[in-house]
Amino acid sequence: MNVNSANCLLPVPSGSFVVPGLTTVLSTTEAHPLGFSLIIPTYKEAKNLAKLVEQLSRLLDSQLAGDYELIVVDDDSPDDTWKVAQELTADYPQLRVMRRIEERGLSTAVIRGWQVARGEVLGVIDADLQHPPELLLQLWSQIQGGVDLAVASRHVEGGGVSDWSIIRRFLSRGAQMIGLILLPGVIGRVSDPMSGYFMVRRNCLVDRPLNPLGYKILIEVLGRGKIPEIGEVGYVFQERQVGESKVTWKQYVEYLQHLLRLRLSLGYIGRFIRFGLVGFSGVFVDMAIFYLLRDKLGLGLTLSAALSAEVAMFNNFLWNDVWTFGDISQHQPGWRQWFERFVKFNGICLAGLILNVLLVNLLFNVFGINEYVSKLIAIAAVTVWNFWINLKLSWRVTDVRQ
Ligand code: GDD
Ligand code: MN
Repeated sequence: MNVNSANCLLPVPSGSFVVPGLTTVLSTTEAHPLGFSLIIPTYKEAKNLAKLVEQLSRLLDSQLAGDYELIVVDDDSPDDTWKVAQELTADYPQLRVMRRIEERGLSTAVIRGWQVARGEVLGVIDADLQHPPELLLQLWSQIQGGVDLAVASRHVEGGGVSDWSIIRRFLSRGAQMIGLILLPGVIGRVSDPMSGYFMVRRNCLVDRPLNPLGYKILIEVLGRGKIPEIGEVGYVFQERQVGESKVTWKQYVEYLQHLLRLRLSLGYIGRFIRFGLVGFSGVFVDMAIFYLLRDKLGLGLTLSAALSAEVAMFNNFLWNDVWTFGDISQHQPGWRQWFERFVKFNGICLAGLILNVLLVNLLFNVFGINEYVSKLIAIAAVTVWNFWINLKLSWRVTDVRQ
């Protein structure tokens, strides 16, 4: 059927990536508000789209009939995905289509879609059926249950990836770890920060200065949105049936750039830097006590290393509890919780202490490295370990509803 394309394409927003309030969108389009807007970013998905739109419509009609819209944002795909989408509008009036010519990229496509969306809740899903559409209803019930952001996660109960190679799994987890170290308060808030399948209350994003880059739209939402509560639903990332992933090394480089940009813009003395400064103060405490025990009291190497590390650990806990994670621990008043955090911190750091002592002995006795240099290397390695595990266990940063 030859569809008159002129009146079926949405206008493409330009300029900043700020999501407007619903009143602004409705005033310019005389439309009525909707409950839910789902963005489908596409690049060369002509063969997948019809099946996806049919499944999404069947699912959403069961609970949101007449109160949702699907918005395809296509970047002028060479396989004319946007034309396929237009033709589908005849059978699916809730489907709208945006064809971008100048701008390209997954994250910016999603935000341009959210900028024209009429929903109170904004979502995103891939077009290639790797994100199981049926999960939408569980995400939706999380939002109805009161969370502000509901994320489809491969890393919680019921989650997984079907056909990823070891390399892709390693790269994905490695990227997550780098993110945890650089932006613990952002990446550490969810179990699958790389997810491209989630829904968020519009109010969490309205008038927030989004500055997306690359593929990881969720990181931008977590970093710059105002999101009090998060829910997660496990899913298995499906095998792609038609077409191929557009992920290249470029997306990984853009991911690192994105992390650094967010790190700098989210405040210079971020949580991570505070943790690093506390750890640094601990180095002085550790080295000073190590020197006193070793050179003044003549204690053995292992005992000196262990005792000095323990004193440094107590120093670090006090500072981290008050300064680094003070905004979290203040919500956990009372001695019992303080003591619980200290015990957990100790347990995690004790594991780090054992690692510290083993490393000192390994570097000194096996590799013949100077004992003080060995000690410094051990401290650096254990600091990364302590930060990552403590973030996840001692000072949980989000009450995530499974
Ligand atoms: N508009 C637009 N522009 N869409 C794009 C672009 C682009 O430059 N690049 C990719 N897309 C669309 C694809 O058409 C697909 O619908 C979706 O974005 C995901 O692209 P894939 O290339 O299939 O990504 P993936 O399967 O390797 O990874 C996806 O899933 C991961 C786990 O949720 C992506 O969503 C990742 O961001 C995500 O981490
Ligand atoms: Mn895919």
